[in-house]
Amino acid sequence: MDKQMRMVAKTFQGLEEVLAQEIRSIGGQNVKPTKRAVEFEGDQEVLYRANFYCRTALRILKVIDTFPIKEVDDLYNGVYQIDWNQFLNTRKTFMVNSTANNELFDNTMFVSLKVKDAVADFFRKRLGARPSVDTINPDVIINVHVSGDKCSIALDSSGESLHKRGYRTAQTEAPLNEVLAAGLIMLSGWDGSSDFIDPMCGSGTLSIEAALIAKGIPPGMFRESFAFEKWRDFDRNLFLDMSEDYNEKNLSCKIFTSDISLKSINVAKENIKSACLGKDLNPVIKDFGNFTPESESAVIIMNPPYGERLNPDHLLDTYEMIGERLKHHCPNHTAWIISYSKECFDKIGLKSSQRMYLYNGALECQYREYEMYEGSKKNKA
Ligand SMILES: C[S@@+](CC[C@H](N)C(=O)[O-])C[C@H]1O[C@@H](n2cnc3c(N)ncnc32)[C@H](O)[C@@H]1O
Repeated sequence: MDKQMRMVAKTFQGLEEVLAQEIRSIGGQNVKPTKRAVEFEGDQEVLYRANFYCRTALRILKVIDTFPIKEVDDLYNGVYQIDWNQFLNTRKTFMVNSTANNELFDNTMFVSLKVKDAVADFFRKRLGARPSVDTINPDVIINVHVSGDKCSIALDSSGESLHKRGYRTAQTEAPLNEVLAAGLIMLSGWDGSSDFIDPMCGSGTLSIEAALIAKGIPPGMFRESFAFEKWRDFDRNLFLDMSEDYNEKNLSCKIFTSDISLKSINVAKENIKSACLGKDLNPVIKDFGNFTPESESAVIIMNPPYGERLNPDHLLDTYEMIGERLKHHCPNHTAWIISYSKECFDKIGLKSSQRMYLYNGALECQYREYEMYEGSKKNKA
């Protein structure tokens, strides 16, 4: 059996349980959700799969060592004693990314510098030469995390954040992060067996992620590369085999994509085309104020404007309109709305059946579910 590794998958706060489930489904073991991350174990194939198949992971780190830190020199000494020959040689390049939550280190640049020195000295003392630092396109990205009296040294196997799927060629003003969009869909429980409505589609992220989920297309399909492809132990055959190990399905449901703005629709069309979903998604201009669903029942996920660029009255009117529309025109539908202000949610005027707390960038948002019944017996404010 292949060597087992310890890994950490990073994600957004609020998506840890969804990601843990994804990690289990690709064969990860001893899966443990923590804050904004999931720790797990697995072999090289699991590492590749986590990068290629997990929709809610932002990056996958392979932990190569952990050691205690009681004084500043423990960092250099701990890094120096790692056998760096396994990961680097003098012709390869590297860079160091650090996070520190420890009173000895209030400056992550200092942490990175110490680690860089230790790696360079490891080679220089043995071979008289050292690998160079490259902060643009390094062969190996070393990730250092100092928390309390513990230091963890990992290799970043992803490189560019995994939310950069590779299909987004155009964007509107406030696009949802792709990982968050996939997470919202998975939190709603939608799996492609019922219709899906994205009535404020902007650049189309929710519809595209929904179509990828429903068709079983892995999110890594469109990526040009992953950092692990430059590693010394990269196994191309294993990578190719695991990246072809899925069956693309036809959509067995309808995904309705619309927005009030022509510019958004054009942007969404461009992204849909680049995700090769032109046959499945057909965004149209529609004001949600005139919306009537075409399906008998469906899941609606809405990411309405938050208001940074809208005048407050107009913003609150939009949320009031959403509530009215859902209540009177969408019986037997379940709507999920992500937004950040309580005032906006209050304007919807419906009783939510679930509330979750998530971050969209730096904004702490709520994600609320509204179940619409015929006669609206449950969703009265
Ligand atoms: C925050 S953006 C959505 C971003 C989108 N989720 C994405 O990933 O790009 C909000 C969108 O709501 C649309 N919108 C605002 N009012 C609307 C209305 N009455 N009907 C339909 N769309 C509306 C805006 O045009 C904008 O594209």
